[in-house]
Amino acid sequence: MEKPFTRDVSLAVNVLRHNGIVAIPTETVYGLAACALDEQAVLRVFDVKNRPRDHPLIVHVSSLDQARQWGVFTKEAMLLAQRFWPGPLTLLLKKTSIVPLWVTGGRETVALRMPDHVMTLSLIEDLGEPLVAPSANRFGQVSPTTAQHVLDDLGEDVDLILDGGSCNIGVESTIVECISDVQILRPGAITKEHIEEELSASVSNISGPSRAPGMMKSHYAPQAKVVLVASRKQADEQAGLLSGEGFKVCVLDEPDLVQFARTLYTQLRQADIDHNDVIVAVLAPPGGIGDAINDRLTKAAADSASDRETGLFKQ
Ligand code: TXA
Ligand code: MG
Repeated sequence: MEKPFTRDVSLAVNVLRHNGIVAIPTETVYGLAACALDEQAVLRVFDVKNRPRDHPLIVHVSSLDQARQWGVFTKEAMLLAQRFWPGPLTLLLKKTSIVPLWVTGGRETVALRMPDHVMTLSLIEDLGEPLVAPSANRFGQVSPTTAQHVLDDLGEDVDLILDGGSCNIGVESTIVECISDVQILRPGAITKEHIEEELSASVSNISGPSRAPGMMKSHYAPQAKVVLVASRKQADEQAGLLSGEGFKVCVLDEPDLVQFARTLYTQLRQADIDHNDVIVAVLAPPGGIGDAINDRLTKAAADSASDRETGLFKQ
């Protein structure tokens, strides 16, 4: 079968206008896009991902004017959008009446983001309407950061893959709620420090399942078990012990944190391709983008932890 890749934005416009779904590149991870106003196409996105329909989707826009038609911007939201868009920041706002409930899982809030990728920005601009785009992986799995990852995960379930190369940032956008308070619901490359500096105020970091549905304890999970350690020395010790017990083990350790984020999901995928039983990952120092890396690693490790307690490793 010919690969469904293209670099031609007009082909993607055409598929989306005809109720199709298209994988799109962004600076964070690849998204699985449908026109936000097209109920059938949006429901297909949920189905292809195996995602529960009450887990709301992020709406991707190409201009601030368009965003303001979809969400109610507070002063803080406006400051953050002006400073960080296009970029890896999603704003959670009160929705306007345009926003269909099939996008928000029935909620009165909407998540909005302007991605920083030239192909996807021109796609949204040419369409003249926003796109929903959850990460283009099956529910709970590792997000894709290349067109090939999308094909590996979704195969023929996606109509077209717009190939915009490898994602530059590599982890999903920071989600910031700007309704009554400003709160970080998911850490990303726009850090707590960046946001506090722009707003000249301290903000809380309350990422967790209660606020943004779909952010469960276990997520971003490879097949191999993920074991977290604090230093390279501990990683080598753990790897030695586990190898001694007969497990195939690899170590994830990248002191350059920008590079760590950029390659994290590729490395988790590669560990599975190489049939590792266990991935021993060295946590990043906290703060900055280290918070996003550790958040994803902790979720990737979540079901491993309970298995380890019972002494079981997945075969
Ligand atoms: O970087 C990203 O944000 C990528 C790219 C493709 O843009 N997208 C992405 O989408 O990560 P997804 O669906 O995998 O994650 C979206 C998160 C979910 O945890 C969802 O619960 C939260 O955003 N979210 C979206 N709308 C929301 C709402 N109205 N209220 C609370 N949480 C919301
Ligand atoms: Mg996702």
